[in-house]
Amino acid sequence: MIVALISGRGSNLAALLDAGLPVGAVISNRADAKGLELARARGVEAIAVEHRAYATREVFEEALRARIDGFAPRLVLLAGFMRILTAGFVERYRGRMLNIHPSLLPAFPGLDTHARALAAGVKIHGCSVHFVTAQLDHGPIVIQAAVPVLPDDTAASLAARVLRQEHVIYPRAARWFLDGRLVIGSGVVIVKGSNAGSDAQLVLGPD
Ligand code: GAR
Repeated sequence: MIVALISGRGSNLAALLDAGLPVGAVISNRADAKGLELARARGVEAIAVEHRAYATREVFEEALRARIDGFAPRLVLLAGFMRILTAGFVERYRGRMLNIHPSLLPAFPGLDTHARALAAGVKIHGCSVHFVTAQLDHGPIVIQAAVPVLPDDTAASLAARVLRQEHVIYPRAARWFLDGRLVIGSGVVIVKGSNAGSDAQLVLGPD
């Protein structure tokens, strides 16, 4: 089963549930995250481990780790989880923790990706699912989706176009993992059984 970590709205979580993925628990570092309500409404156990209640990042992560490991998940998914994780925490879940990031990595790691993409004048933008490593937003890439940047775009319109593709690629990547199709070699992910990466790299139209 999957444990998903969230901080907010939970639309990627909804996409994972809609795709029928076995999400057994959702944990948020914020008790007011809308995604917790969404999980409960769908009968999924939803837990808050509030980072603010802990004196240090390490103590927070120890509490988080205990809750995650209580479910013995095969896969941990960061689905809009907005806390930086320490190298020690990341190491514990090496090779079984994925993140979705709203840019075509390695471009635009970090925050405000859509505004930064517009400011840079890129003509193609998108999203990436990657294995989590200690370096923020830099782990081996599983799948990406690309969308055009249109002349009238605002950060909000571009974010909405990218988000639609996040909801396509994250369930696909999670399914590949659970089916044992993802192999990491030399920092690069190979999707077993895909032909020349045609289903591992999508280039999609405006909608
Ligand atoms: C998504 O766009 C996700 O890619 C992004 O947060 C949003 C969460 O939305 N994640 C990051 O920026 C991680 N660095 P959601 O709660 O509706 O899934």
